[in-house]
Amino acid sequence: MHSYDIPKHSTAILGGLILLIWYAATLLQRKWRQNCFVRENQCKPPSQLPSKLLGLDIILQTIAAAKQRRVLELGLSRFQHYGNTLKFRNLTKTMITTREPQNIKTILSLRFKDYSLGDRIQTFGPLLGHGIFTTDGEHWAQSRSMVRSGFSKDRIAHLDIFEELMGDLFELIPTDGSTVDLQDLFFCYTMDSATDFLFGHSVRALKKYGHNPGDETGQDFGSAFNYAQDSIATRVRMGPLKFLHRDRKAQDANRRCHELAEEFVDKALSYRQTLNENGSAGDDTSAEKSKSLFLHKLAQQTGDRTRIRDELMNVLLAGRDTTASLLSNMFFVLAKKPEIWAKLQGEIAVLEGRAPTYDQLRNLTYLKYCMNESLRLHPVVPVNARLAVVDTVLPVGGGRDGQSPVFVPKGTTVRYSLYSMHRREDFYGPDAQEYRPERWEKLRMGWEYLPFNGGPRICVGQQYALTEAAYVTVRLAQKFPILESRDPGSWKENLTLTLCSHNGCHVSLQHA
Ligand code: HEM
Repeated sequence: MHSYDIPKHSTAILGGLILLIWYAATLLQRKWRQNCFVRENQCKPPSQLPSKLLGLDIILQTIAAAKQRRVLELGLSRFQHYGNTLKFRNLTKTMITTREPQNIKTILSLRFKDYSLGDRIQTFGPLLGHGIFTTDGEHWAQSRSMVRSGFSKDRIAHLDIFEELMGDLFELIPTDGSTVDLQDLFFCYTMDSATDFLFGHSVRALKKYGHNPGDETGQDFGSAFNYAQDSIATRVRMGPLKFLHRDRKAQDANRRCHELAEEFVDKALSYRQTLNENGSAGDDTSAEKSKSLFLHKLAQQTGDRTRIRDELMNVLLAGRDTTASLLSNMFFVLAKKPEIWAKLQGEIAVLEGRAPTYDQLRNLTYLKYCMNESLRLHPVVPVNARLAVVDTVLPVGGGRDGQSPVFVPKGTTVRYSLYSMHRREDFYGPDAQEYRPERWEKLRMGWEYLPFNGGPRICVGQQYALTEAAYVTVRLAQKFPILESRDPGSWKENLTLTLCSHNGCHVSLQHA
């Protein structure tokens, strides 16, 4: 050992000690600040979900429930047993889950800035990239303003494409009473309408459904899209263990989805070339251009291929699966309830068989109740989550009675379940688990009913989706007075990013 090693060692040890003290002081200071915050806000801890092995048992229970199509039921039973706001271990982290409207309002609106989407980009990124569904902050604000500009009332009230696609849909429904899976058809229908609405060009998946099952751009895209979403849902359920999940088929599915989107990226970029220096279209004012398409709004903002592709994937996901899921979940139930189908027929008789206008659709109240009730029992986005980016507070859920505020440390994921909130008996009565559209005659719901989210990230497509679902239901009810279920079982969940029926929607539709 050299003599000059001693001071060198001492310096290193001293440096290490200072670092350690600084780290401990920071921790203590943080703890002290948190304690003050807890005292000032009178927070109490919420009930704890019992768990073993750092919550590994909770993850395994959820994976097992997913195999039995019972994830949502499992979540509901936990709330019913332990309380409306719970904390639980998720290996390295403590998480909070809630079905309290006041808490959900706080996360999504009152304290919007205290939360982000968390690691959604890592889970959803391989399919969706960076778009309105996966980003926060400036990127999201820019996406949202681009997307919103494509949803003017004029565009939503334009129903021609819905009628045109009804023709394609009717062609695929047997009229001799044999069984048809409406769910498949609804997914094709909304794929067609969404691509027309957003990109100005329908991929005509319905047409291809019967004639050319392997077609890349229509139906086959649908199955790749479904597979890619399934894989994302599995990763979400695996929580911190998601790094163990490897799925080459999902990578292939993502690639195929991106390939379809490229066709629209090309369209956007060639439109961009026609823009003059002011950013508006040149002399060529074709009908497509005058429609203020989302695709064109995008092209006006950016020439970045990846950005355009990602935004397209995001809104396509939003537009296709959601409305199709609403329709198939609702028809699954309606097919088992002939008295409701008959009541709907009574309401639409006023149209005397004619296609409805936008305003006529809005006046069909019983139809609205049927859709509300479907979105209540089977919300298309049934569970969601946000990540606290600062120390923050939820107004209720703490203490024995669950009425005290709850402290949410920075870095905590807060999940909220609309599925479980929509089934609360204190809001909806003892028959909360039943499909009964009539309940909406008296209900005036606020944050207790939230199928379209709330606050700054409220669904952009709500009116469009409700108009489309209402239109399809009216036209089917006008054509087929008889609707019967061909599925002896009860509805089972198919939970990916959205919620539809695991067994599809097998029905028979007949003329009188
Ligand atoms: C029954 C149909 C629909 C339901 C239940 C629904 C529900 C929702 C929900 C719950 C969210 C919030 C997601 C989150 O923040 O994590 C959302 C966001 C969104 N929805 Fe919908 N949606 C429907 C249809 C549509 C349609 C047809 C479109 C477009 C064509 C659309 C476009 C969007 C967009 C762009 C967002 C992202 C908003 C943002 O983050 O700023 N939705 N939707």
